[in-house]
This record gives sequence, C-alpha cells and structure tokens, in this order.
Amino acid sequence: MLPKLFLLATLTLSAVNAQSITAPPKPIPTAAVSSGVFSFKETYPSAGSKPNPKPEWISLISNATIANAPVLTGNSNVGNSDAFCDWSFTGCTRPTDIVSCPKGQWGITYDDGPTDFSSKLYDFLDTTQQKATLFMIGGQVVRYPNLVKRAYDSGHEIAIHTWSHSYLTTETNEQIIAELKWTELAIEEVTGRKPRFFRPPYGDIDDRVRDIGKALGFTPVIWNHDTDDWMLGESTTFQASWIDNNATQWVGEAATATVGGVSLEHDLYAATVDAAIRILPLLQKAYKVTTIGSCSGQPSYKDGGNTTLTTSTASTLSSATQTASSTVISASIRPAGPAVTLVQKPQNSNSAGNSIFPTAVTVLALTVLTIGSLI
Ligand SMILES: *[C@@H]1O[C@H](CO)[C@@H](O)[C@H](O)[C@H]1NC(C)=O
Ligand SMILES: *[C@@H]1O[C@H](CO)[C@@H](O)[C@H](O)[C@H]1NC(C)=O
Ligand SMILES: *[C@@H]1O[C@H](CO)[C@@H](O)[C@H](O)[C@H]1NC(C)=O
Ligand SMILES: [Zn+2]
Repeated sequence: MLPKLFLLATLTLSAVNAQSITAPPKPIPTAAVSSGVFSFKETYPSAGSKPNPKPEWISLISNATIANAPVLTGNSNVGNSDAFCDWSFTGCTRPTDIVSCPKGQWGITYDDGPTDFSSKLYDFLDTTQQKATLFMIGGQVVRYPNLVKRAYDSGHEIAIHTWSHSYLTTETNEQIIAELKWTELAIEEVTGRKPRFFRPPYGDIDDRVRDIGKALGFTPVIWNHDTDDWMLGESTTFQASWIDNNATQWVGEAATATVGGVSLEHDLYAATVDAAIRILPLLQKAYKVTTIGSCSGQPSYKDGGNTTLTTSTASTLSSATQTASSTVISASIRPAGPAVTLVQKPQNSNSAGNSIFPTAVTVLALTVLTIGSLI
C-alpha cells in the first residue's frame, strides 16, 4: 500500500510545450561512430509526430483486457482517486513495474538518445566497461542508427522510450500501440532484436498503458532516483553540482537502503552527459552498477536473451551515401520528468487543486474516494 497521502499532480503541459526543444538535423558525427550509413527498409513516421499504428498491430491487443481508464486530456487527472494507479499522479506502482534494483545494485539508465552527445557517453562507458540501459526515442533511432548499432554492439541494453515522447495517458490505445511498436521496429531494424523494456516519458503510466504494454510483450521501467539532469539544458538556475551532491547522498545511503537504485539520466545535452560521466564512478564505488535486465533478472529482448548476439540478424552498415531516411528526421524532444509537479495533499482534503478539474469529474472522484476510504 502507498502511504495514506494523496498527491496532486499538476501536469503543466503548456509549460513543457514552451520548453520543448527542437534539435536541428545535424549530420551524424562520423568520427565518433562506425563508418558507413544505415538504410532502413521501413518508412517511418516523422520524428516527434504522434504516429498511427500499422493496422495489423491493433489486433495484437484484441484478446487482452485493457483497463478502461480515460484518455486524459492535457493537465487533467481523474480527480484525486487514482483509480488506475497513475505513477506520475501519485507514485502508484504495480508489481510488474520495475522501479528499483535489489539492494546493493544500481540500474543505470540514460534516456532520450541517441543524440549528438551520446558518443561521448558511450566512449566513457566503454572505458569503464559499464553496461547501461538506454531508453531510446524512435525518431532518434532513425536519425542516428549508427549510434544505436554502436551502443548495441558495446553490450548496452537497448530499450524503448516511445516515438513522440508524449504523455502516454493522454493517448488513445491505438496511439500507445503505435508509440511502442514503431520504436520497437526501428530498434529491431538496426540491432536485429526486439526490446522488452519501455520507459513511459515523464513516468506517465496508468493501468491502461500498463495493460497495452503487457499485451505487446513490454515491461515498464520507472525510477526511484531522479538526477533532474534535464534541467541543465533548460533552467539557468539549476546547478550542475546538485547532481553530484545528490549522487553522493545516494552513495551514502547504500548501506542502509532496503532496496537498490534505478536512476534517471539523459544523454540529451552536453551538460547531462558530462554530469553522467562525473557521477558514474561515485555510484560504481557503492553499488554494483548494471542494466535493468541484469538487476531484475529479466531478459532485455523478446527472444529471451540479454547480450549481443554473435550471429546478429541485424542489417549491416553499408558504406553507401547517406540515405534520405536517415537525414530528413528532425526531432522535437521533451525532457523526461520535468512536467510533473507533485504536490502533497492530505487524504480526504479537497481544498487544493480541484479548480483544475471539471465539476462532474470532481464529484465522481469524491464518490470514488469515499467508497475507497470504506474499503
Ligand atoms: C485472439 O484469440 C483468437 C481466438 O482464440 C485467436 O485466434 C487469435 O490468434 C488471438 N489473437 C492474439 C493476438 O493472441
Ligand atoms: C539534489 O537535487 C535537487 C534538484 O534536483 C536540489 O534541489 C538539491 O539541492 C540537491 N541536493 C543536494 C544535496 O545538492
Ligand atoms: C545478462 O544476464 C546475466 C545473467 O542475469 C547477467 O549476469 C549479465 O550482466 C547480463 N548482461 C547485461 C548486458 O545485462
Ligand atoms: Zn525522456
């Protein structure tokens, strides 16, 4: 059970939209990646767009029971009932969510790549022989296939961070299918493997999203330690040293903590990569730093494996001229985690925050809340 607290999440969507970044299409930094260019067979949705699913993907969930949670719009949640276990609303989790690693272990994860800054991170990981879990955005996979291939060949665990980096609870079932499956397909084209793990952007997951993910064979991964590193790229007041201080604190907690960590970092900006490089050695001293698959004992890929296949079915890089498909993509990425402001609210208090909810929803929520408190 969660503590008897109701947390009110204010999804400041408009603020995030204002902050959204448009990465200009830049050439792949060829010095840092293996030579040659990858040609995708598939025609992908444009980066950052909310894609539609292939028709055949829709039937993949037709036999599954999908929670009938409402498709949330913008900054709404369903009152304060949290009937559908919305993590970004209350921190609610289900047993199938991976949130932490066992005591003594640390799942190291980097989101939103690949980007122009990823190769610096990958170089560093290689020097310390550290394997990480990389939650990749579909459009970025199509834009930087060489980096995906390189990361995969280094033994990192490649995982899904959706196609458009949207709040999944605001998307229809079909859109959620498309977010996950298009990204899976792009990763599969490059690596020959279908990832099992996905991270919902902003940790925005409820039972509907969970059920769809499960029906498609995916396991969600949240986190229990947030560096807030994305703020380095977007806030002038955020101090890089806070990241180091927090990491030092996490190291200090290693002995007494009952569970291990899963941290949230980004290979999104030069500064976030630099921070990642600074704090990894600290974490390595206190924890067995590893991938999500390794610490959870679950396979990284749908074929049941977790390491790089020696006889990879992956397409090889050709030395052909760069194809249009890998150059036209420009990405609009939002940082993870930023938009969700959790405000603590005592149970049964209805004083704060309800102004953002329509009256009918509030009444419904209060009804559910009342019933809930009787159970
Ligand atoms: C759904 O169930 C039907 C009838 O049992 C079966 O033929 C079909 O293959 C199932 N679909 C999936 C995606 O499991
Ligand atoms: C940890 O990071 C947060 C911001 O994410 C910051 O407010 C806090 O001061 C940091 N802690 C330390 C000890 O620096
Ligand atoms: C693969 O799984 C094995 C056994 O769980 C584990 O020791 C190893 O670290 C894993 N490798 C990766 C890259 O996750
Ligand atoms: Zn993200």
